[in-house]
Amino acid sequence: MAEKLATLTFTDGTPPIDLPVMTGTVGPDVIDVRALYGKTGKFTYDPGFMSTASCRSSITYIDGDKGILQYRGYPIEQLAEHCSFLEVAYLILNGELPDKQQLDEFVNIVTRHTMVHEQLIRFYSGFRRDAHPMAVLCGVVGALSAFYHDSINIHDARNREISAFRLIAKLPTITAMTYKYTTGQPFMYPRNALSYVDNFLYMMFGTPCEEYRPNPVLSRAMERILILHADHEQNASTSTVRLAGSSGANPFACIAAGIASLWGPAHGGANEAVLKLLGEIDDAKNIPAFIKRVKDKDGHAMLMGFGHRVYKNYDPRAKLIQKTCHEVLEELGLKDDKLFKLALALEKIALEDEYFIKRKLYPNVDFYSGIVYKALGIPVSMFTAIFALARTVGWIAQWKEMITDPDQKIGRPRQLFAGATRREFVPAAKRK
Ligand code: SDX
Repeated sequence: MAEKLATLTFTDGTPPIDLPVMTGTVGPDVIDVRALYGKTGKFTYDPGFMSTASCRSSITYIDGDKGILQYRGYPIEQLAEHCSFLEVAYLILNGELPDKQQLDEFVNIVTRHTMVHEQLIRFYSGFRRDAHPMAVLCGVVGALSAFYHDSINIHDARNREISAFRLIAKLPTITAMTYKYTTGQPFMYPRNALSYVDNFLYMMFGTPCEEYRPNPVLSRAMERILILHADHEQNASTSTVRLAGSSGANPFACIAAGIASLWGPAHGGANEAVLKLLGEIDDAKNIPAFIKRVKDKDGHAMLMGFGHRVYKNYDPRAKLIQKTCHEVLEELGLKDDKLFKLALALEKIALEDEYFIKRKLYPNVDFYSGIVYKALGIPVSMFTAIFALARTVGWIAQWKEMITDPDQKIGRPRQLFAGATRREFVPAAKRK
């Protein structure tokens, strides 16, 4: 087939140029603008990357109009239904679902990396007890590179693999320690006989004083939530990880950068913001007044957990989490949970409102996840940390993919300069 081209013409006398059009296995074509500056002396302008593919990737595919999400080609619904989180982690990292032996080996390796260096434990006491968990997580994960510098040669495939194992294995330990630190309870060492998810719940909720028995329904809910958060192509935090990594920074530093980006309320921090919002609305009778404030663009009022850059349809993860919400609340005898009812009422009213319909604003992954976390006994300030725990898998897979991409270059965007042009220095005494 002939190479597809896009012709760019100019009104300023610059000769037209042909740009190659790249075709993926599925999804929109991509115009290759790499030669544009060299041939025309012009850049493209695209704040927020509204129309820019920043890389080539084979990991996650989203069709935002249809509400489709696939990891390595597998529909998210099937993975959430049938897989363990580590099975999905293997898939995301390696491109194929593991056979029984591969999975056993993977689980065994991850399980044997769950402890953290004893000296790292002392880092926690440097934080205030009321520090936000994401601040602690960011600091402690960044500090990992000071402890595991035997695996930070990014050009060595084995080093990259060991760093991946370390991060996936230690994130639950570090996240649970972050929680324990805020409550003043003793840190719990990992128990390798437990599954990845049960071990995390044990380190969060167990104490040295009594036996901790994970509830299978709640474990399964947590497993599903981790699967649903594991990767989401080139979102803000993943792009941050890639950009940090493009300079050759070590993987622990890159993941810490991803955590920082995820923390924002427009991104992963939205799960915490949704719960705060539901608390403020408090009662279904207050929903119309809140919706009016959103529509009036009054004081930045937004329906948190709604809207998405890519999904112009229901986020498939939100549907699955809503289902999980039902299951968890049923199991805990909380069928009449006030927040869940309020969230359902809010969703219904928003989806029937012309403001949301016109802008194609639907619930996203963060809308219902907080209600599940809350029912599991997780405090609101920990919500985004759990998102980070799950997303670590995607961040590492994307980072590894970037390192081995022959097209990879240091990320270095250009700008449309709008500041002062050259002027002469004036000493302070003579300035007006
Ligand atoms: C995540 O990218 C990913 O993949 C992220 C993620 C992942 O897994 O990594 O899916 C996780 O980050 C989910 C999103 C969590 N954030 C929120 O729930 C916060 C609320 N949502 C918005 O801030 C917003 O929808 C974004 C940030 C998610 C998307 O922003 P865009 O694509 O830049 O869209 P926009 O802000 O330009 O909005 C377009 C219009 C605007 O109205 P107009 O100026 O055209 O009149 O829609 C309005 C916005 O004001 N709008 C909302 C709204 N979201 C968008 N109005 C009210 N409430 C909202 N939630």
